[in-house]
Amino acid sequence: MRDKWTSNVGFILAASGSAIGLGNLWKFPYNTGMNGGGAFVLLYLLFLILIGMPLMLAAITLGRRTQLSVFGAYKSINKKWSFVGGLGVICGFIILSFYSTVGGWVIYYLKSSLFGQLNSTNPDFLDSVLANLFNSPSELLFYQFLFMAITVGIVLKGISGGIEKASKIMMPSLFIMIIIIVIRSLSLKGSMAGVEFLFVPDFSKINMNVAMDALGQVFFSISIGMGTIVTYGSYLDKKDNLITTSSIIPILDTLIAILAGIAILPAVFALGFEPTGGPGLMFVILPAVFASMPMGNLFLVLFFILVLFAAITSSISMLEVAVSYFVDEKNKGRVSSAIIIGIIIFLIGIPASLSLGAWDFKVLGSLNFFDLYDKLASNILLTTGAFLLSIFVGWVLTTKEAIKEIESSGVKFRLAGIWSILIKYVVPVAVGIILISSYWDFIK
Ligand code: PHE
Repeated sequence: MRDKWTSNVGFILAASGSAIGLGNLWKFPYNTGMNGGGAFVLLYLLFLILIGMPLMLAAITLGRRTQLSVFGAYKSINKKWSFVGGLGVICGFIILSFYSTVGGWVIYYLKSSLFGQLNSTNPDFLDSVLANLFNSPSELLFYQFLFMAITVGIVLKGISGGIEKASKIMMPSLFIMIIIIVIRSLSLKGSMAGVEFLFVPDFSKINMNVAMDALGQVFFSISIGMGTIVTYGSYLDKKDNLITTSSIIPILDTLIAILAGIAILPAVFALGFEPTGGPGLMFVILPAVFASMPMGNLFLVLFFILVLFAAITSSISMLEVAVSYFVDEKNKGRVSSAIIIGIIIFLIGIPASLSLGAWDFKVLGSLNFFDLYDKLASNILLTTGAFLLSIFVGWVLTTKEAIKEIESSGVKFRLAGIWSILIKYVVPVAVGIILISSYWDFIK
């Protein structure tokens, strides 16, 4: 018998644990900053509703219908499609390799905040803390390794009850903590410029690159396109309501992303930083925000603990896709698979880790290793995976069968007609067009 979630709540916690992570807290604010603000946020929301949410339901349905992790799920319906599962495994390797880099920064910042070393509102000082880290290969690799080791350690134990239980405390705490930062950030003098930047779209900023990044951000943030959700969905019970489940996760995820945006970007403007600060943005802004409030350092420590937890619940979901592939399809042991894959991912991640300091050279166009992995993962691999998922559920499994599966728990799917049109036509065409641009952008 396969493991089952102890309850539907277990699935929602695990899947939102996978969705909510560095993608929301770290990537969304800096991506918004780099892509012109409100226009990016608007496209993000549009893509989320028309593309992300329908795909979320498609992925969960595919998982529960087949009761198999992603590779087997595609294969059991049509052998020729098993490559999509393989693509997901590769994608997991790449995302995790740079995700663990950033996870390492979080651990480093947690340590530094514990020692009270970040207690400053001075932009130059905080920039220099980050620059020192980026230029210290031994520290970068040590913390990246530590992050991978924690991830591997948890995945070793199978879908674990401990994480499920801890999430019930950690996720709401994270939410409360972000609200506190939002309040502080909004009360800083000059913060309104950041609010405007976030919510007043400048339509002239919209172009194909912004669209690619917004769509990639949607897939990255809700963990769609590499099989995580299919795999998690396979542990769902036949009586669980897939419609509510698949709506709750993206809504929670987006709420956290937008809140993280409001926590960070107004402070960027108020404290005199640049919104285009790139991947380091969260790490320089938040210490400054905390340093400007009472008991700030204590809050900063707590905050980094929560960020780390959110990052780990995401990283285990990525590693799980690869490990379950080797366990289910290749009959390998869970322990050895997790360790070997973990080591390989760590090694692949080294260039990404070093590329913001010692190895800061361009490998493709204007991209260094870190950006290359990120664009390759979000804009190419996840987007390709999402495109194939829509074709597969729309035309191979067929939406008719999918709807049967959705309704098998006894609920009536009122939006079945709209959902079918989205999955069969709108999603593949829209994602297809953006995908072609991404490929072109990549090879040109
Ligand atoms: N959604 C996660 C985050 O926002 C990252 C992730 C991507 C996890 C793809 C699993 C699969 O941090």
